[in-house]
Amino acid sequence: MKEILVVHGPNLNLLGSREPEIYGSKTLSDINQELSDLALVHHYQVKSFFSNHEGEIVDFIQDHGEAASGLIINPAAFTHTSVAIRDAILARKLAMIEVHLSNIYTREEFRQRSYFHDIARGVILGLGSKGYSLALEALISILDKE
Ligand code: DQA
Repeated sequence: MKEILVVHGPNLNLLGSREPEIYGSKTLSDINQELSDLALVHHYQVKSFFSNHEGEIVDFIQDHGEAASGLIINPAAFTHTSVAIRDAILARKLAMIEVHLSNIYTREEFRQRSYFHDIARGVILGLGSKGYSLALEALISILDKE
């Protein structure tokens, strides 16, 4: 079965209790479960990974990116800072969709820059946890055509 990586950046383990008015009430394990179930319907499998640490995310993408077909990533705060994660995605030539729960363009100015937008096949933001399943559907339809 083809594999899609799903990477969650720092503080996303706190979803459900972290600023729910911005990030919603679903937990990270709710989101991962929904993605696994949805992927199976399309005969894909999902490998999810969360870390607060930039280097661990780079390691995960290096270690699993070659065998995987694509990547969904919410780099969280690393969106606005991480050349290293960007380079790992490019090195593994992964078809990638970037997801944000909130609309980063209506928030603080420092959030309005992404190191990932220009290398993403698509970007989904501001739709809460629904954005992940939309991203998965979109990525699968891209991969099925390639
Ligand atoms: C976020 C937006 C980032 O600015 C923030 O640091 C996050 C979450 C989002 O999903 O809306 O942790 O990526």
